[in-house]
Amino acid sequence: MSNQSLISAAVSVRQKSYSPYSGFSVGAALLTKSGDVFTGCNVENISYRLTICAEQGAVASALAHGHRDFISIAVVADSKKPIVPCGACRQLLAEFNPALSIIMATTSGEVEEVLLSELLPRATQGILESKRNV
Ligand code: THU
Repeated sequence: MSNQSLISAAVSVRQKSYSPYSGFSVGAALLTKSGDVFTGCNVENISYRLTICAEQGAVASALAHGHRDFISIAVVADSKKPIVPCGACRQLLAEFNPALSIIMATTSGEVEEVLLSELLPRATQGILESKRNV
């Protein structure tokens, strides 16, 4: 699947965003090794800190459908510059693929691609290997 198709999926789900407090809608589309795409949008709450980021929704949807092998994620917002996932989302994504490709796009078509390992270096070094058993 092309980056552009993944971005289109993120653009589409972004319309479902529930973000009355920030007015900032975000869409995310996660691509798996098998070629499946799972999407998420940000969901805000009157108790602000309960907000769920678009990336978190996409990860939850993928796992609920039995997928964990992530190759890339597209994140789209109506911003001047492409937005990067927040620190919490970086950590969440690193759990499944520390070298995930992150495609960040604006609604006006500016696109930037980085590796998660650049945004969150050495995320799980030494921990997953010694403690995880999956
Ligand atoms: N947000 C995301 O959903 N993903 C990001 O990568 C950055 C921020 C959301 C959280 C909040 O609902 C709104 O954008 C403003 O920060």
